[in-house]
Amino acid sequence: MSPSANWSYPTAVRFGAGRISELVEACQAAGINKPLLVTDRGLASLPITTQALDLLEASGLGRAMFSEVDPNPNEKNLEAGVNVFKNGGHDGVIAFGGGSGLDLGKLVAFQAGQSRPVWDFEDIGDWWTRADADAIAPIIAVPTTAGTGSEVGRAGVLTNSVTHVKKIIFHPKLLPAVTICDPELTVGMPKIITVGTGMDAFAHCLEAYSSPFYHPMSQGIALEGMRLVKENLPLVVADGSNIAARAEMMSAAAMGAVAFQKGLGAIHALSHPIGAVYNTHHGMTNAVVMPPVLEMNRPAIEDRIARAAAYMGIAGGFDGFYEYVQKLRADLGVPDKLAGLGVGRDRIDEMTAMALEDPSAGGNPVTLTTENTKALFEACI
Ligand SMILES: NC(=O)c1ccc[n+]([C@@H]2O[C@H](COP(=O)([O-])OP(=O)(O)OC[C@H]3O[C@@H](n4cnc5c(N)ncnc54)[C@H](O)[C@@H]3O)[C@@H](O)[C@H]2O)c1
Ligand SMILES: [Fe+2]
Repeated sequence: MSPSANWSYPTAVRFGAGRISELVEACQAAGINKPLLVTDRGLASLPITTQALDLLEASGLGRAMFSEVDPNPNEKNLEAGVNVFKNGGHDGVIAFGGGSGLDLGKLVAFQAGQSRPVWDFEDIGDWWTRADADAIAPIIAVPTTAGTGSEVGRAGVLTNSVTHVKKIIFHPKLLPAVTICDPELTVGMPKIITVGTGMDAFAHCLEAYSSPFYHPMSQGIALEGMRLVKENLPLVVADGSNIAARAEMMSAAAMGAVAFQKGLGAIHALSHPIGAVYNTHHGMTNAVVMPPVLEMNRPAIEDRIARAAAYMGIAGGFDGFYEYVQKLRADLGVPDKLAGLGVGRDRIDEMTAMALEDPSAGGNPVTLTTENTKALFEACI
């Protein structure tokens, strides 16, 4: 039996297999009468998506979808989605998909009522207070991958299609009003996406756990999140229809996103520019850069990682943990180097500058400099 429960930590989460059937109730709870379902192109025609639309239509909530969403979605996708939202007279968004569909859907609900450009709401200082909070439409989130945790997050990642920079757009009301975590929706993920998204969840937990800021609650959540990935990611890769393990991975994903309020680090600081420049999969990119980042951070996190290793049942302290990560990557078929994702050496200087500017950089346990960041890129490529 896979678990089923209601949580409000921090979002109201309806967690359990088959609970997509509560989509209409979730709309009612969020006060949405004319939802726009936002997803990406790949999911648009899959049965999980058409079945969700069937539920809406059958209950009189209409059948409206926007799916012109790229992987690593950009401001053009957002503008098109906002137009569909406004022209259709919608009053809320069902953000449906992996991080791409979830983030773009959340941002449509956010941006539809704003008069300033979306880039004015980047996660810098108190820029979020520039937004008209009352004009943000309610959001229901329905993840179909188990990785980004965007379903319980207050941010959306948007790539600037002109500058190829990934920006984090932040507002407290980007937090969905209701989330439905139904592990059955993740069963059809291609194996490579199961691996990539699972490693994203692991990276969120690992970086949150390692970041030096004070946040003991996040620390505990991140630690258990890592353990859940260790126990369950190999199971879902071996058998994609293992619902109990899929459920645990969904929990780990949500836990990672809750935990990374504490901070991220160099894995994400590197991964964001690589994804923006080379359009690689976010989680897979994280998985590739993980060992060199661990190695660089070792002096600052050795004891802490040894404690995590002990909790996770890994012998050998930091070294054991490092070897575990290497073996996990190899077992899951993660390329050893970024060259395996098509990343060349031609733009290292540019990506180094972008990594240092990335908001995740500040959470790295070792201060990032041009020298050590460039060296990281060299080691990863
Ligand atoms: N908001 C956040 O806090 C946050 C955190 C981490 C990453 N992100 C962002 O999320 C994005 C990546 O999200 P992702 O890793 O979930 O991948 P994704 O949303 O880009 O999806 C990857 C592919 O998998 C397909 N897919 C998704 N679910 C499926 C299913 N159940 N069955 C079949 N196919 C399915 C999609 O159609 C797509 O082709 C990036 O843009 C990244 O920057 C956001
Ligand atoms: Fe991530």
